[in-house]
Amino acid sequence: MNSQIIVIFGASGDLTKRKLMPSLYWLYKHNRLNASFALLGIGRTPYTDETYREFIEKQLPLFAAPTELDAISVSNFLQHIFYYSMDPADKEAYAELKARLKMLDQQISNPGNYLYYLATPPSLYGVIPKYLQNVGLNIEIGEQTRRIIVEKPFGYHLSSAQELNYIYNSVFREDQIYRIDHFLGKETVQNILALRFANGIFEPLWNRNYIDHVEVTAVENLGIEERGGFYDKSGALRDMVQNHLIQLVALTAMEPPALFNADSFRNEVVKVYQALKPLTNEQIKSQVIRGQYTTAHSEAHIIKGYREEKNVDPLSRTETFVATKLYIDNWRWGGVPFFIRTGKQMPTKVTEIIIHFKPTPHSLFKGMAGNSSLNSMIIRIQPNEGIVLKFGLKVPGSNFEIKQVSMDFTYDRLGGSPVGDAYAKLLEDCMLGESTLFTRSDAVEASWKYFDPILALWENDPCMPLYGYPAGTWGPLEADNIMGTDYAWTNPCK
Ligand code: BG6
Repeated sequence: MNSQIIVIFGASGDLTKRKLMPSLYWLYKHNRLNASFALLGIGRTPYTDETYREFIEKQLPLFAAPTELDAISVSNFLQHIFYYSMDPADKEAYAELKARLKMLDQQISNPGNYLYYLATPPSLYGVIPKYLQNVGLNIEIGEQTRRIIVEKPFGYHLSSAQELNYIYNSVFREDQIYRIDHFLGKETVQNILALRFANGIFEPLWNRNYIDHVEVTAVENLGIEERGGFYDKSGALRDMVQNHLIQLVALTAMEPPALFNADSFRNEVVKVYQALKPLTNEQIKSQVIRGQYTTAHSEAHIIKGYREEKNVDPLSRTETFVATKLYIDNWRWGGVPFFIRTGKQMPTKVTEIIIHFKPTPHSLFKGMAGNSSLNSMIIRIQPNEGIVLKFGLKVPGSNFEIKQVSMDFTYDRLGGSPVGDAYAKLLEDCMLGESTLFTRSDAVEASWKYFDPILALWENDPCMPLYGYPAGTWGPLEADNIMGTDYAWTNPCK
């Protein structure tokens, strides 16, 4: 790993505290960073190097894994942290930032390698690259590396995503741009690729001939916590569906890439997005259900409704739940419905993909005791990471009673080297110049192209329903309707 300075814009923000610092600390502790790395926090808060270190020292124990924390590593890690107070929206401040970086280069013997991380409000995503360019902080001389990681949401709709891509591509080469989607950094998400493409037994079944339908669920039992200001402008579709959930669909549905490299992999992802069957307005009304959690009273306590959350408009029509059905119009998946849903304040936190296989063509044991043996495969992304295959077997006894049984595999049995959280994986990849697990410009646009009409209809048609659901439940009942009479959502166990 090269020496480099990681420049975090938004250094006192939530993401930096919760994810970036714990992940960088983890990488540091596991000797995955160059000995002469530095971290330069940028923000408007007037910290000094010292006071910023104190701030991080207080935050780390709240968000890093307790087993990883030890006083010596933390204290050594803090010595690599510096702070520069500036307003990232102030064009004039960038010349001084450049001077500060040069000084830091000398201090740690860094040849001018910079990794910029935009952990700021999305309104700054278009501004910062231009201001970096104004003072030449985007230009690589000789062997230097200058990379930029930008958080989601990348754009608010297709046109703003295109504008952002235009800005980024005019400041950086595509291989310098890392659009992060932390789901791709999860071990179990990457394991979907291993499951599908390191094994011969599943591939013959992995198509419309054997798969009946697919469910993708990513639900959470928390509300929006302190993120009302951000969330109320985003909503579940922008926050979860347009990026994380659709990535899961892509990994489940993509064709095998010919090579395991960034371009081959990302080419196949884009093809899935391009094959998403566009929805008409009528279909949006019936197939895309949005909900918002409402106050729930239980004997023990009251859970606030979304509109009562801090920094949320009391008349907000922002969705905290989305359930939809989509089709991938290609040879492999023609006619197979993919049901996806996400929600805040649901009964549990689970992310999983369920592949439901078609029933046997002839029910040999029909009419006999027991259930039919529908086959399915559950890919558990989190928690209890693993894979469960369900099939029917005969219950011992004189009758032919068929019972569904499970073959379980849990990832913790795999061993392997210690892994940090998804952000640690992606930060390390970016520092190594490995962009396979980051979203390419064409993929972002292809995904927005599919979701744009939904957002437009919600925004422009005041009659589009937004259903309430009491916090702690599985979402509005209307979400069941998109399943039709043939299917039902599989609610994961708590
Ligand atoms: C983030 C969303 O990208 O993903 C959050 O902004 C959401 O709203 C989070 O809670 C879920 O990620 P994870 O890794 O906790 O499942």
